[in-house]
Amino acid sequence: MIDHKPKIILFQCQWCLYSAEDQTWVDTQLPVNIHLVKVPCTGRINTLYVLNAVQGGADGVMISGCLPEQCHFKEGNLGARRQLDQFADFLDHIGYERNRVRFTWLDLQDRGRIQRDLAQFEADLTKMPKSEALATRVGGHHD
Ligand code: FES
Repeated sequence: MIDHKPKIILFQCQWCLYSAEDQTWVDTQLPVNIHLVKVPCTGRINTLYVLNAVQGGADGVMISGCLPEQCHFKEGNLGARRQLDQFADFLDHIGYERNRVRFTWLDLQDRGRIQRDLAQFEADLTKMPKSEALATRVGGHHD
């Protein structure tokens, strides 16, 4: 069990939050244990960014993006998403459990969902033992 709030890195595609209220919440009201990294598209997330978050001591990584058919970069992005998914499998293999990396693909109708998904992710991470297997810079900067 984690005895403090789990540290979460949220990679957010800048287009995926269709409601201005949700985007404002993410931009200005995220709890302090959640660190935001905004990206132009989930397809632009280099796996090294994710590794960097893990080495920085993140208990979990959430990647939020648009549904494939709504992604501004279309098919080119699918390969990148597959790569991220495979990278999460690889991290699992070397000791960072698979359910510490969560994807959330948002739709136009999904207003208010980012708050719920983050709360659920945080609750799930809280039940897991602390992950320090790959952390090399706990307490340091992670961006
Ligand atoms: Fe949002 Fe690609 S533009 S995931």
